[in-house]
Amino acid sequence: MSVNKKKSNTKITVEIFRKMKEKGQKISMLTAYDYTMAKLVDQAGIDAILVGDSAGNVMAGYETTLSVTINEIIYHAKCVKRAIQNALLVVDMPFGTCSGDSISSLHNAIRIMRETGAEALKIEGGEELLPDIRKIIAAGIPVMGHLGLMPQSVHQYGGFGLRAKSEAEAQKLIRDAALLEEAGCFAITLEKVPASLAEEIALSLKIPVIGIGAGANVDGQVLVVHDMLGLNQEFLPKFVRKYADLGTAVTDAVSEYILDVKNSDFPSAGESYENQIKEII
Ligand code: KIV
Repeated sequence: MSVNKKKSNTKITVEIFRKMKEKGQKISMLTAYDYTMAKLVDQAGIDAILVGDSAGNVMAGYETTLSVTINEIIYHAKCVKRAIQNALLVVDMPFGTCSGDSISSLHNAIRIMRETGAEALKIEGGEELLPDIRKIIAAGIPVMGHLGLMPQSVHQYGGFGLRAKSEAEAQKLIRDAALLEEAGCFAITLEKVPASLAEEIALSLKIPVIGIGAGANVDGQVLVVHDMLGLNQEFLPKFVRKYADLGTAVTDAVSEYILDVKNSDFPSAGESYENQIKEII
């Protein structure tokens, strides 16, 4: 199926994010971790690219995002930056790089911005991290909050299940979202929470709420690009829609290549070089 690609040459900024919410325009965001994929995603007209610490899962094969280092996220973000024309570039602050020591959080945030050319950072955490988030924003760095399921806190939750099922946790989430807006975050990612709660939060805030497993009634959506393209053939949560089956396409293509090599069907004469000088003579 070929989709009508609506490409615009507008460079997306955090200010445009704000305006999109005001106008009721939905925001599209996907992850990317390398130059080639980022180029394709940007050319398709995505509003924002997130260099997520999910890189640890899909690129490095780590079991959780806790293993991702600041050097690794900087490497991926630099690759993506070189590919982007229009999308807003948001980079995750990895586990332990923004965790309550606001001076070192600021130092890490500045390092990521300076070395990658990122345009915004995403930080997992609510009220507990407000001093760090305020300091980073005061340094002129746009911050996207991340609430609900925060994979960097997986061991505190004991798994990757739905968050904010209890009234107490739902109330904390509502409060955290309001505090992040008040602190100056330009947007919030809301992961794996009941759709009705996500809708309530999106309606209560002026800044956009970007959902992942948070239902349709928020201001935008984000997915891990490997999941939605069907490249990840391991467990997929129910909130992922597979828009392609590239995993199968890759396996089929590689199988065909192996057969051609084994049967001496590749390369053909047209795919080989001859000695040019001899040919002229
Ligand atoms: O790291 C990531 O990819 C994310 C998204 C799932 C929101 O944080």
